Amino acid sequence: MKDKVGVGLVGSRFISTIHAEALRSVAGAEVLAVMSPTPGRARDFAGKFGIPNHFTALDHLLAMDDIDMVVIGVPNLLHCDVTLQAARAGKHVVIEKPLCMNLAEADRMITACKEANVKLMYAEELCFTPKYVRMKALLDEGALGKPVLLKQSEKHDGPHADHFWDVERAGGGVTMDMGCHAIAFFRWLNGRNPIASVYAQMSTSVHTAKTRGDDNAILILEFENGVVGLAEESWTKLGGMDDCAEIHGSEGVAYADVLQGNSIQTYSTRGVGYAVEKAGITTGWSFTMYEEIWNYGFPQELEHFVDCVRNDTQPLVTGEDGRAVLEAIFAAYASAGSGRKVTLPFTTDVDKPYKLWKK
Ligand SMILES: NC(=O)c1ccc[n+]([C@@H]2O[C@H](COP(=O)([O-])OP(=O)(O)OC[C@H]3O[C@@H](n4cnc5c(N)ncnc54)[C@H](O)[C@@H]3O)[C@@H](O)[C@H]2O)c1
Repeated sequence: MKDKVGVGLVGSRFISTIHAEALRSVAGAEVLAVMSPTPGRARDFAGKFGIPNHFTALDHLLAMDDIDMVVIGVPNLLHCDVTLQAARAGKHVVIEKPLCMNLAEADRMITACKEANVKLMYAEELCFTPKYVRMKALLDEGALGKPVLLKQSEKHDGPHADHFWDVERAGGGVTMDMGCHAIAFFRWLNGRNPIASVYAQMSTSVHTAKTRGDDNAILILEFENGVVGLAEESWTKLGGMDDCAEIHGSEGVAYADVLQGNSIQTYSTRGVGYAVEKAGITTGWSFTMYEEIWNYGFPQELEHFVDCVRNDTQPLVTGEDGRAVLEAIFAAYASAGSGRKVTLPFTTDVDKPYKLWKK
């Protein structure tokens, strides 16, 4: 077993900042380098986090022998290419959600990592979110009886960067961006039982000037074992991020609210410096988070992936899980496009999910 896993970060903005902060508490990891193409960004990021090396070119980071694992936080369009390059360089890969743009890319990523004998670890933090982990434990111990309906929703007023709004770079709107969390969450709770069908309703209801992607979506997933998953996703909800889940079982029910439910209810006439992700206005009443990254499970997720590399064990969430999520996302866009329930397995050679909706 290696003493410390050498980590390289690819990307230097929103999620990579979370990765760097989360990795500070992972004793088995050492962040050795950061790469970002924007001149000066990687240097500033390295300075902020005390990272010894910074690059503007990916191959320079990948050429570092001490780096065992890369954590990729770049726009969706680049997930496949960066993963393939990392695999070719013999690095284990942690890839942010969604896995990539389409099923052919997913297959290429899975094959490349297998051939290079490196792990492809799908960063789905909801499987590590402490409140949701406890919720799953309640289900697994039988406290809620047989699961009937699973619900999960993520809502805020829209992403912080241009690439999310551009369907050509993101692949879709809120379903691609946040629906992927719900689908991964349902599969994890439901023991990876296969998804039998997906029905979806999508709209671009508020941000029509900004995007051709969906800014509101409702997805209904039926699993082969009869369990139903209901996901609500929104990019038009003001007042800060929401992340909630419910498990309805034959013998009980459990409700969890990751953000408001873990926050300090705050009233301020001046406003608070930071309340919660995408809080917007913070004067008057707001809900102020503490330990937001820990409450979301990012350090726990990265600690698990680092342990998988150190001990050569199977990750809890893999490239195959990311592919299954992407397949359901494609089915969701196809359903929203046709107005019909779509059955799985779903095969398509369409290169971006939104194209099945906006034909
Ligand atoms: N797990 C989560 O909850 C979560 C949250 C936010 C974002 N994400 C995912 O993380 C990814 C990045 O999102 P973000 O919010 O950090 O975006 P961002 O715009 O804040 O950062 C993107 C980063 O990618 C870098 N980049 C652009 N082109 C590059 C290239 N060719 N090579 C290397 N780096 C390049 C940019 O310089 C920037 O540092 C997206 O796929 C997104 O879906 C996941």
